[in-house]
Amino acid sequence: MSTDRSHIAQLQAQVAAMPNLGLGLGLRHVHFDYIQSNWPEVDWFEVISENFMFSAGRPRHVLRQVAERYPVVMHGVSLSIGSTAPVDFGYLKALRELAAEVQPKWISDHLCWTGVLGANTHDLLPLPLTEEAFRHVVDRVRVVQDYLERPLVLENPSTYLSFTHATIPEPEFLSGLVAETGCGLLLDVNNTYVTCFNSGLDPVAYIETLPQESIVQMHLAGHQHCGTHIIDTHDRPVVSEVWELFRLAWHKTGGVSTLLEWDGNIPSFEACLAELHKARNFMGQATVAAKPEDPASINYDGVATPISFLLPQIMEDTVTN
Ligand SMILES: [Fe+2]
Repeated sequence: MSTDRSHIAQLQAQVAAMPNLGLGLGLRHVHFDYIQSNWPEVDWFEVISENFMFSAGRPRHVLRQVAERYPVVMHGVSLSIGSTAPVDFGYLKALRELAAEVQPKWISDHLCWTGVLGANTHDLLPLPLTEEAFRHVVDRVRVVQDYLERPLVLENPSTYLSFTHATIPEPEFLSGLVAETGCGLLLDVNNTYVTCFNSGLDPVAYIETLPQESIVQMHLAGHQHCGTHIIDTHDRPVVSEVWELFRLAWHKTGGVSTLLEWDGNIPSFEACLAELHKARNFMGQATVAAKPEDPASINYDGVATPISFLLPQIMEDTVTN
């Protein structure tokens, strides 16, 4: 495991050199036909690594075609960087093999844990943000980066609770990871809003605390506001408060690769693209407000998941475990 400061500085330099890819969309299977027929004008795609790591056939074929035509970033949901289970080198091997094929600009996952003892909850679970957890995650990020031979990019998750014995605020925890490992950050602006609302924190202060030079990507998404709490559903347009936070983050970072996540009740590719392009109103000096979509026109049917190809396996796990 590499703890050498010059190696960490090298990784930080690699993070600093990660390009602004522009405005991108998540590659979702409901859009495969449209994409293959039109090769639409979108700057880049983000793919959920787990949807392709263990699948051959059409998904992998489409991904290969997409990767030939667009910049691609790999985004994972099962690395489980905070788990106390041993690092899963089988998972990392599959991730590295997919990366060799796709040549992603970077590989990201979340600051969370997803399971122990071989079980995967397929949920991004919150960590107790303590000094002990920090040292644990630092060690694991270093192991993963050594294996993948590149910086890992970590995303702030949406959380619905915090631990009473936590001692490190999340943005400080992320900042510490950057300093100690050389990893990059994926700032999910919607997650920031969700977490801060659910925990009574200030999302502006959260964003301002992060080391801006280490943020290589942003996520935007819609959520479900339940009055007392917010659920991160990715099934509707981005709310105006999140757009305003995006405006701030764009200004603070100087502009980084930005991606719209839409994983439930996914509309047409053109509609996703139109929602994504509202971001242009909040980049730079423009002050034109994005027109929010009428929520009454959208049919919601629950919490979304981006791991579409794994769903049958998840259902099987649920039934048998
Ligand atoms: Fe996200």
